Amino acid sequence: MSATAEPAAAPFGRRRGVVTTARKVGAYVVLELTDRDGPAPVPGQFYMLAAATGWGAGDDERPYLPRAFSCMGAANGRLWFMLEDVGPGTHRLTKLLKGEGVWLTGPLGHGFRAPDEGRRPVLCGGGVGVPPLVMWTNALHAAGQSPALLLGFRGRRHAEVATTLPTAQVATDDGSMGHHGLVTDLLVAELDRDPHAVVYACGPPGMLEAIRGLCVERAVPAQLALEAGMACGFGACFGCVVPLAEGGYARVCVDGPVMDAAALREVPAH
Ligand SMILES: Cc1cc2nc3c(=O)[nH]c(=O)nc-3n(C[C@H](O)[C@H](O)[C@H](O)COP(=O)(O)OP(=O)(O)OC[C@H]3O[C@@H](n4cnc5c(N)ncnc54)[C@H](O)[C@@H]3O)c2cc1C
Ligand code: FES
Repeated sequence: MSATAEPAAAPFGRRRGVVTTARKVGAYVVLELTDRDGPAPVPGQFYMLAAATGWGAGDDERPYLPRAFSCMGAANGRLWFMLEDVGPGTHRLTKLLKGEGVWLTGPLGHGFRAPDEGRRPVLCGGGVGVPPLVMWTNALHAAGQSPALLLGFRGRRHAEVATTLPTAQVATDDGSMGHHGLVTDLLVAELDRDPHAVVYACGPPGMLEAIRGLCVERAVPAQLALEAGMACGFGACFGCVVPLAEGGYARVCVDGPVMDAAALREVPAH
């Protein structure tokens, strides 16, 4: 059975969702939103989110652009997201309370593709790269597969989210939970044990670039969900481009966010 379905095109324009739960999990906030009329997302797709009120630098000033967030789950007209407060947009979104409105556009972009016959899925990432890997691991389990899930974090506060994922192997930079070191140490061990794998990855650019290099060097196929900075999310501004191995550039918002590691020259640090 396939773990993925062809994504439905997102309806043009934004929809208004409502926060049904906002839960703090360690360093993150997990938001549950209503989205009764939107198409079902596939793992790896993302949404542009904006708070319906208080979204800007003061009453008289221009509102912020919506921000991009990977979907962590979807069921029964509900969507889940996991956010870290790193700037003005995420600060507002992580302060949302039950009943507040959120403008959402999506699902956008291309998600993960199912493993080729006989390839063992190994999911690897960390930080705010966790949401699409959670959704993908659940879809793979539902399709009867047993993916490995390797997650790296700065320390225990960030790693707390992994305690809700029973199959996750954890690495922390400071050794406060799981393996003391980088998640790529866990990936090397997995690939040494069984190189006949396909790697699915999402995380900060430095982590993704290390995973890309490792997989290209070992000729292991890998699909990377990129989280490059985005402005429009629709392919119009070219603010999200990444360099391709064959020359030229791709736009992460419309050509990705999931891209083959072998197609990329590098994962840029922006
Ligand atoms: C496809 C996609 C999926 C994403 N999924 C998630 C998610 O599930 N959860 C989540 O918390 N965030 C996610 N992000 C990142 C999130 O969209 C950005 O962090 C967002 O710009 C934050 O907005 P802000 O106003 O809070 O901070 P900003 O003012 O935009 O930025 C704050 C700080 O973060 C840095 N920064 C912003 N965006 C990025 C980036 N993409 N990569 C590296 N550094 C960056 C800025 O340089 C600045 O230092 C995703 C991004 C993309 C493109
Ligand atoms: S975010 Fe504008 S082109 Fe990709």
